Amino acid sequence: MNAKTGKIKAAMLGAALTLGAAPQAMAEGMDYETVSDLLHLVMNSDRTVYTRMIVNRLANEEGVIKASEHFIDDKALVLPAQMFRFGAEMVAEETDAFSYSLLSLWPINKQNAPATPLEEEGLTFVAENPGENFYGEEELGGTTYFTAVYADVAVAAACTSCHNDHKDSPRTDFEGGDVMGGVVIRIPIDG
Ligand code: HEC
Repeated sequence: MNAKTGKIKAAMLGAALTLGAAPQAMAEGMDYETVSDLLHLVMNSDRTVYTRMIVNRLANEEGVIKASEHFIDDKALVLPAQMFRFGAEMVAEETDAFSYSLLSLWPINKQNAPATPLEEEGLTFVAENPGENFYGEEELGGTTYFTAVYADVAVAAACTSCHNDHKDSPRTDFEGGDVMGGVVIRIPIDG
């Protein structure tokens, strides 16, 4: 089935409802690209708000509290990437209808490097084509997936300063507005 024309019903309707999609679109089923774009809009908005209004404001501008990967020991804010992963883990406990992760070609955490050829292709594409998303299909463990990759952009000074200064970062020249990685959303294609 072609990923762009494929329809998703039952499992994704809940997500569509939550996202307030038009009833007509749900009745006819939504294509994978639309569902994925809507899911990404929610997760990216939450991520940007957390970074700008919590981390950048309190850690970088006001100097009230640090953000640290060792947030419990340091009594610090959770990093934006950790915030994102904790959400993804909670979703994974609830449903197999989709999964998502935050990856990069220049990862601080090597586990966030691309793990499939399509992830690598998608991350390269969004880095080289600002403003465009990447959509493809891949077969993993006998299941075919619709896989979308969205650019993860440096939306606050906190993004670039923390990555450029981090001892494990393979890249130290990030600037505001740069693509720093990508959000990968994966939806199993039925039938
Ligand atoms: C205070 C430090 C800090 C801030 C602020 C921060 N990051 Fe990160 N970021 C990290 C660390 C550390 C990791 C690795 C976390 C992990 O997976 O355990 C990470 C992970 C990532 C990843 C996954 C690949 C990797 O490097 O492991 C991306 C993409 C990313 N950050 C982009 C951003 C963007 C964009 C922003 C701003 C919206 C941002 N980061 C803000 C420290 C930071």
